[in-house]
Amino acid sequence: MRIDILCLFPEMFISPLNQSIIKRAKERGLVDIVIHNIRDYTHDKHHTVDDYPYGGGSGMVLKPEPIFEAAEEIKQQIGISEMPVILLTPQGRLFNQQVAQELAHHAQLMLICGHYEGVDERVREHLATDEISIGDYVLSGGELAAMVTIDAMARLIPGALGSPTSAASDSYKDGLLEYPQYTRPEVYRDWSVPSILLSGNHGKIAQWQHHQAILRTANRRPDLIKKVNLSAKEKKWISENLLSLK
Ligand code: ADE
Repeated sequence: MRIDILCLFPEMFISPLNQSIIKRAKERGLVDIVIHNIRDYTHDKHHTVDDYPYGGGSGMVLKPEPIFEAAEEIKQQIGISEMPVILLTPQGRLFNQQVAQELAHHAQLMLICGHYEGVDERVREHLATDEISIGDYVLSGGELAAMVTIDAMARLIPGALGSPTSAASDSYKDGLLEYPQYTRPEVYRDWSVPSILLSGNHGKIAQWQHHQAILRTANRRPDLIKKVNLSAKEKKWISENLLSLK
């Protein structure tokens, strides 16, 4: 997978994209991330990337020319005319695990990070093929949003994680939050690991984990549990146990 990022602050990506799972995915040749400074595609002496908004108003707007030129030059370099071009914007569709999975299937992606008051609307209309928001809040730029989407995607690429089953049990994989996890010591400050996990009975453990996942989801995210196909038995079990949660 190759990801080209168009942004104004390339240095922001250096540390986050060179640690942990993304670093490993890059080293294994699973993902190639190329960062481009939009400013490098300007032609004036001052390398102007923004200008005042038509119609007045506060703040500056990113000009279309350097963004279009950067995108076109990159497409030409790669040798493809069509590829998904994602504009990171608080006005985009909301990013979630399903969107991460959908995007992780592409061989090429281009991410455009806006800044200042926004991006000239013609970028959205005639260059972007998709718009993504990472949440209902306004960041000072799209760079952090791009990092969030890349991180979520990279760990889904087969071979990126240490264990092939890790991504499968992640929260949200089946629309459920993940069950509680424990590690050694067995007792810490009088707090014991649930005894079922030490029983060695894999069937019972799997059932406990599934019950915990649905209970936790019902308790914390009623919006998510509504979308999960639960059996009548599971629904009954949730209603009996929801009250006992602390
Ligand atoms: N740029 C500014 N805020 C954003 C958000 N919430 N998601 C994606 N890009 C953004």
